[in-house]
This record gives sequence, C-alpha cells and structure tokens, in this order.
Amino acid sequence: MADLKNDRFLRALLRKPVDVTPVWMMRQAGRYLPEYRATRKKAGSFMDLCRSPELACEVTLQPLDRYPLDAAILFSDILTIPDAMGLGLKFNTGEGPTFERPVRSARDVAALGVIDPNAELKYVTDAVSVIRKALNGRVPLIGFSGSPWTLATYMVEGSSSKEYSKVKGMMFDQPKLMHQLLDTLAQSVIQYLNAQIKAGAQAVMVFDTWGGVLTSRDYREFSLQYMTQIVDGLINENEGQPVPSILFTKGGGAWLEDMALSKCNALGVDWTIDIGEARNRVGDKVALQGNMDPCILYASPERIREEVATILASYGKGEGHVFNLGHGIHPAINPEHVAAFINAVHEFSAQYH
Ligand code: CP3
Repeated sequence: MADLKNDRFLRALLRKPVDVTPVWMMRQAGRYLPEYRATRKKAGSFMDLCRSPELACEVTLQPLDRYPLDAAILFSDILTIPDAMGLGLKFNTGEGPTFERPVRSARDVAALGVIDPNAELKYVTDAVSVIRKALNGRVPLIGFSGSPWTLATYMVEGSSSKEYSKVKGMMFDQPKLMHQLLDTLAQSVIQYLNAQIKAGAQAVMVFDTWGGVLTSRDYREFSLQYMTQIVDGLINENEGQPVPSILFTKGGGAWLEDMALSKCNALGVDWTIDIGEARNRVGDKVALQGNMDPCILYASPERIREEVATILASYGKGEGHVFNLGHGIHPAINPEHVAAFINAVHEFSAQYH
C-alpha cells in the first residue's frame, strides 16, 4: 500500500494474502523494556509522557527497534477522553488510574460534553503526526480508543474495579442515564478516532477491556451497540487507502458472531477461545487478531515457540490472521522472550500462506 515498506498488517486486516502472518503486541511500548522505563523517568509521569509528542514517539518506536514487529501503536492511553472531560485523572504507582471527580449522578452526566479532539486532545493528534513522520513508511500506525462501556466503568467507579458495583448499579437502576453517558462517549470516540485517522493513523482499534463482565443481553445493549455506532461513524478511507477497524472485547468469545455484524474489519480475541474455532464461527466476515496468553511469555523460549506453532496451526491456512497476545504484555516479561515470540511467528507462519 502506497508509501508502506511493510503492509502485511493492513493486508491481513483486509483479509488479503500475505507472505507471513503479521504480529504486534498489545502494550508493546511499556515497562518490560528498560529503554521505556528510562524515557518514562525523563518524562516525569506517565501522563507527561503521553502529553509530549516527541517522547511518545520515542517510546512508540522502541519496540520496533528491538523486534521485527509489523505494526506500531500510538503511545497514549484510553483514559485521555475522561481526562479531557475534566474528571481529574491521576496515575498513582501500584494503584492504577483514579479520577478525582467520578461520574455518579444525573448532574455529573449532564455536565459532560462531547470532546473536541482539536482542543484538549491536540497532544494526541500531534503525537500521531510526529510518529507517522518518524516511521517513514516502516510499518503502519494504529490509533486507538477505549469503548464507551469500558470508559464508563472507569468514570463511574473512579478507579480500576473488581466488582463493577457502581457502574452496574447505574446501568441496572438508571438505564436511561447510562445510555446518556454512553452516547456522549460514543460521539466523543468517533470524533477522537477520526481526528487520529486524519492525523495519520492507518488502522484503528477499540479496546473494550470490560465488556466481558456483562451478561449477553447487557453486552449487546450497553457495549456492542455503541461500538457498532462508532464503526458506522468512522472515516474508513484516508489518503486514498482504506483504514481498517478492530474491535476487541476481552472475554467476548461468546459474542463473536454479533460483533462480526458490525462493519468492523477485524475482531481481537483473548486466549480463552480457540482461534480455529473463532475462525469457523466468523467465517469470512472479519479478520481475527490474537490470541496467545500473555503468561506464556514467562515460560521458556522453547515453550513459547511451541505455543506460537500451535496457535498458527489452529488458525490454519489462508488470510485474515494478525498474531497478537490475548491482552497486554506484563511488565515483568523478559525482553529476550519477546524476541523468541515475534521471530517464531514469522518463521513458522510462511507455510500457512
Ligand atoms: O499498546 C501500547 O503499547 C500502546 C499504549 C497503551 C497504553 N494503554 C499505555 C499504558 C494502550 C493501547 C493502552 C490502553 C489501555 N489503557 C487499556 C485498554 C487495554 C487493556 O490493557 O485492557 C486500559 C484498560 C487502560 C487503562 C490503564 N492505563 C490502566 C488500568 C493502567 C494502569 C495499569 C498498569 O498496567 O499499570 C494504565 C497505565 C498505562 N497505560 C501504562 C502504559 C504503558 C503503564 C503506565 C506506566 O508507565 O507507569
């Protein structure tokens, strides 16, 4: 595709033939890399790192300089939207994210406006432009956002949660209010992703990390409905090239057929479902991205290679597979194990194409 030296990631998302299976990792720029920890220290805080387009670019490229990855992902966070809405985001070491002003009442929801990505979030689109330029066509750049439901869980709970009692309380007792919140978020995500696309993102991914905590009924009504709305609102072409979209619901294996009915190009899958079975279920409707258990990376390089071979064999011959982990890489992983993983995907997958 146009200016790209390596376009296998985009080709696989569009279910076109490739030479080998493309691979990237969720959270590929992160704390398992000593060079990331050094840049993060230089930046001061995690959000300072996100807010500096130059430093965000530096960390985006770090994993690409170490490994032959087939895609880069914008360095940022899903919580930039609620932060821009004025909730007061804090990242406290060891505690995860917290909001000073969580959303709990009808008044709180009414006070939220659809974000303007060219105002409060300009640092994100600036980072996209800087990274795209620095990549110089090496690999495609992925833009991303959280799903409305997943953003709402953080905004209502005020922090990471185990039970989701507050956000589910609002959903069960005040469904109209929850829909009002999700609608504001969906409109914001559409603006945000389209701004990333215009700034140079060549594919976009929606992270629905907490859709899997819902019943099937509630998943369709409170999560998938809004992700479908987002896919419908996306600019799906830029610079004369298609811009594919990926929907990822962690724990969403039961709903792949429903997710495939949205007009997205690919579904992310976690490790709790066999990728061959997932492929049988979605047929030729969408590509699949996944799905190695990130904990395999704690095992020996031999065991990692064996797992890669098993997943490739399960998917089988043909197009439409992007290799990834089923969730983000953990901070304690040995970077040499990552090299074994990435190399194995390219080495073993040629026979399937
Ligand atoms: O994948 C990448 O390399 C791109 C960058 C990226 C980050 N966060 C950087 C980050 C992406 C795509 C995200 C998405 C994200 N953020 C999600 C969805 C994906 C998922 O993991 O389920 C979620 C739920 C968040 C919210 C978030 N951000 C949490 C809960 C935390 C703290 C937990 C933790 O791992 O410490 C973050 C912080 C965060 N986002 C870090 C990074 C590299 C670690 C911050 C640090 O350097 O201290």
